[in-house]
Amino acid sequence: MAIFKNWLICLASIFSFVLRVEASTFCNATQACPQDKPCCSQYGECGTGQYCLNNCDVRYSFSHDSCMPIPICKSSSTKFKEYSSKLGDANTFLGNVSEAEWLYTGSVIDYDDEDSLILAMPKNSGGTVLSSTRAVWYGKVSVRMKTSHLGGVITGFILYSGAGDEIDYEFVGADLETAQTNFYWESVLNYTNSVNISTTDTFDNYHIYELDWHEDYATWSIDGVVGRTLFKNETYNATTKMYGYPQTPSKVDVSIWPGGNSTNAPGTIAWSGGEINWDASDISDPGYYYAIINEINITCYDPPSTVQKNGTSAYIYTSSDEFLEKDIAITDDEVMMDTDEGSGLDPHKGATTSSSAQKTSSSTSSSTSSSTSSTSKSSSSTSSAHSTSSKKSSKTTSTTSNGDKAISSAVSAASSQTLSTSSASGSASSSTSSSSGNVAVNVAANWGLTALCAIVGYIL
Ligand SMILES: *[C@@H]1O[C@H](CO)[C@@H](O)[C@H](O)[C@H]1NC(C)=O
Ligand SMILES: *[C@@H]1O[C@H](CO)[C@@H](O)[C@H](O)[C@H]1NC(C)=O
Ligand SMILES: *[C@@H]1O[C@H](CO)[C@@H](O)[C@H](O)[C@H]1NC(C)=O
Ligand SMILES: *[C@@H]1O[C@H](CO)[C@@H](O)[C@H](O)[C@H]1NC(C)=O
Ligand SMILES: *[C@@H]1O[C@H](CO)[C@@H](O)[C@H](O)[C@H]1NC(C)=O
Ligand SMILES: *[C@@H]1O[C@H](CO)[C@@H](O)[C@H](O)[C@H]1NC(C)=O
Ligand SMILES: *[C@@H]1O[C@H](CO)[C@@H](O)[C@H](O)[C@H]1NC(C)=O
Ligand SMILES: *[C@@H]1O[C@H](CO)[C@@H](O)[C@H](O)[C@H]1NC(C)=O
Ligand SMILES: *[C@@H]1O[C@H](CO)[C@@H](O)[C@H](O)[C@H]1NC(C)=O
Repeated sequence: MAIFKNWLICLASIFSFVLRVEASTFCNATQACPQDKPCCSQYGECGTGQYCLNNCDVRYSFSHDSCMPIPICKSSSTKFKEYSSKLGDANTFLGNVSEAEWLYTGSVIDYDDEDSLILAMPKNSGGTVLSSTRAVWYGKVSVRMKTSHLGGVITGFILYSGAGDEIDYEFVGADLETAQTNFYWESVLNYTNSVNISTTDTFDNYHIYELDWHEDYATWSIDGVVGRTLFKNETYNATTKMYGYPQTPSKVDVSIWPGGNSTNAPGTIAWSGGEINWDASDISDPGYYYAIINEINITCYDPPSTVQKNGTSAYIYTSSDEFLEKDIAITDDEVMMDTDEGSGLDPHKGATTSSSAQKTSSSTSSSTSSSTSSTSKSSSSTSSAHSTSSKKSSKTTSTTSNGDKAISSAVSAASSQTLSTSSASGSASSSTSSSSGNVAVNVAANWGLTALCAIVGYIL
């Protein structure tokens, strides 16, 4: 009996071992994703489903049409009052933009006292990201928020594209009177691109941070005052004859993340204002570091007049060699997958096979579980509404539900510092597809069961 049980454990461990092999295929400038897991996530891992949405990296995916078409810009004004139940779960979302305008990974909590949403970062967590389901190309985005504080804690407001273009604000918790602004073209790190704007305490005060992104120039403004202007023509590279200007459809991300976590690169920790103190008073009360989002407005501008237009609902990339403004078209291609096996190569994958009934039920159960987590979120906001200082009494409701499929909620890759350092060698033409992805196996996690298997095998 015992042997039989051990044998089952052994089988389970082999199975989970296989799953782990399945779960970790990485992608970067020299290694594109394989066809069966064609999408390179923002964090450099290959997969299907959610990997093909949310900043799927077109450069390192199997081909330029592996990532899902990107839902077109729609002007909106979102007040984040009692909003947590309206958020989609980025770990299960399949692209239906009628379901959600904003997604999250991490922990979000309604903050009734200020009609706002808290992005929380509990002890040792990777923080929280709020991201738009649609992209902007081009447009004006403004966020009314309070940043977090203290060394090692970063609050970010970023426009980020699947080609590594980025326009951002980053707030380092150690300096609350500075908004750091930056931009990247295809993840290329240029230390001179960063400019600081002075402001008043970003933790105590709501400010409106605006990114006004046009085809020819971009401005960064705080409370309506322009603090920085970037002209596209200033970014021309005579060698490559290309503009190093952010120019591809970009999603809006607002995040809190532990730049100063001890496991990060020393340069990132130094930039963050030193190692994060996971025993700071915020961690015991209210229980997490936090940023507070009150409102986000998005105003869409017309796409470039030269754009190839075959429709009105989605942006697609048309080239596997370059990922520039000229390589974007507007079509009516589908933006939604049927299951998490889907990708831009086959959005319906999983729906028409013999297991389609099972797939449907599994997607039903995941939407059920996400509404369960919304319920618990509202209940935490209910309890907070009864206290005078709601932020202090509300408990963290961690809503991360990770399977192997979950996109890492560590925002470090979204951090310009880390991302750009690791992909600085990426170039516009580097995404030649390769059919075999490299595989890394987490042997350590399975060591115990593997050893058990060996013993069982010996006994048998
Ligand atoms: C998308 O979501 C909306 C709102 O929940 C729903 O009415 C619609 O049926 C969904 N579309 C598809 C194709 O599932
Ligand atoms: C932060 O560092 C701790 C070790 O101090 C580690 O356990 C944890 O996984 C790290 N978190 C992230 C998000 O990197
Ligand atoms: C959003 O737009 C409304 C209406 O124009 C304005 O009152 C509000 O201040 C704006 N909020 C932000 C965050 O820009
Ligand atoms: C960085 O950008 C500046 C201007 O924005 C430019 O003059 C400089 O050559 C760039 N450096 C590199 C290495 O691209
Ligand atoms: C911006 O301010 C930070 C301190 O908050 C400083 O470390 C950094 O060097 C400044 N960057 C620039 C470009 O001045
Ligand atoms: C860039 O364009 C702006 C606006 O058209 C113009 O004022 C500026 O002089 C140009 N700068 C360069 C370096 O060409
Ligand atoms: C232009 O691009 C080349 C090739 O990527 C790069 O080596 C060089 O630093 C860039 N120059 C400027 C001025 O940005
Ligand atoms: C747009 O439609 C034309 C004509 O049907 C077709 O030749 C072209 O490939 C389409 N372009 C895109 C980007 O879908
Ligand atoms: C790309 O990833 C492979 C393994 O996944 C690794 O061997 C290689 O060094 C990486 N290349 C870069 C430029 O990071």
